[in-house]
Amino acid sequence: MPMSHGERAAAMLAEAARRSEPGPGVTRLPFTPEHRAVLALVTQWMEAAGLAVHLDAAGTLIGRAEGERDGPALLLGSHQDSVREGGAYDGIMGVVLPLVALAALRESGKRPPLPVEVLAFADEEGVRFPTALMGPRALSGRFDMAALEMRDAEGVTLGEAMRGFGLDPGALPALARKPGSVQGYVEVHIEQGPALQEAGQPLGVVTAICGIERHSVVMTGRAAHAGTTPMDLRRDALAGAAEAVLAVEGQARATPGLMATVGALTVEPNVVNAVPGAVRLTVELRAPVDATREEAAETSLRHLRSIAAARGLDLLTERTYRQAAQPCDPALTERLQAAAGSGVPRLPSGATHDASAMADLCPVAMLFLRCRDGISHHPGEAVRSEDMDAAVKTLIRLIQGG
Ligand code: CO
Repeated sequence: MPMSHGERAAAMLAEAARRSEPGPGVTRLPFTPEHRAVLALVTQWMEAAGLAVHLDAAGTLIGRAEGERDGPALLLGSHQDSVREGGAYDGIMGVVLPLVALAALRESGKRPPLPVEVLAFADEEGVRFPTALMGPRALSGRFDMAALEMRDAEGVTLGEAMRGFGLDPGALPALARKPGSVQGYVEVHIEQGPALQEAGQPLGVVTAICGIERHSVVMTGRAAHAGTTPMDLRRDALAGAAEAVLAVEGQARATPGLMATVGALTVEPNVVNAVPGAVRLTVELRAPVDATREEAAETSLRHLRSIAAARGLDLLTERTYRQAAQPCDPALTERLQAAAGSGVPRLPSGATHDASAMADLCPVAMLFLRCRDGISHHPGEAVRSEDMDAAVKTLIRLIQGG
């Protein structure tokens, strides 16, 4: 029996996963020998699928299939890189599945109606350098050349790493594409959460990439002796912070679409026999709609102020990060939904993707695949080949509908 599209994808992904630093799972950072090795493999696959291949100055490998007629290309892709000790699917699956779809089309003697490009971006995870998404940013003309001076842990600048990889950073500005020169960008990615598995669904169509904001919070009371300070005279910063953590959680539980997390907490003096004098904590809020997140931030800060006031604590808050939500393009999303089937559920993406930055160039849409127990950024990442098969069939219909 011939291999299904899903089995073919699974074999290719297993092969790609071997292009990794030694150790558990997959470790493949940008502009490294592992990156070069996976590009050699992807180049073979692209050529076998009849694509014209080139590596652009941002380290994005691009394979292009010409269409039956000329016109704006449909872009499909994702990132080649992984986190340290990551899995075999996050990123690279979004490169492999479009290649399986294009190879299948070619084998059935068909060409896409309009050109299709498959892109394997160098760096989405931002593990090696304190920046990421240079591939999509270069294509949208928004790459900040100052990022070339950023250094990795070994002191190598991004510019040096790129030149060492055979790239010319001076050519980055010329990569910018004209708005309107492409139809749009569709990214296939693992969900990285458990929602599709819970719903018993192999695929999901993404509505929006969540916006994010982060706040740094300091609650200050008075450090005191744990044995001699009466309970009613204490200004216990940690007890106040505990209420704050629960208030943030409670608000997110009560607000559809909102994710809110107190992820880091530092206690002073953090000893067994002292009343805590100060606590520093982080509040992170994510939502697919900016207004939801912004209202939640206001309400959370109001809760924190009243908790602090009731306990005689001083409160300092500062917003340290803000990234707007990126809604997926309605028309391209409808087209993806039509290709996937009307029963495929919609869901937001809580994580950032290459699509977030591609949205500065063109309409974007995303297709999520169910992953086992929502595990990602871990060697235990797993996707069923039947689910990949459904995704490839969706891509074939999407391409043919172009
Ligand atoms: Co990813």
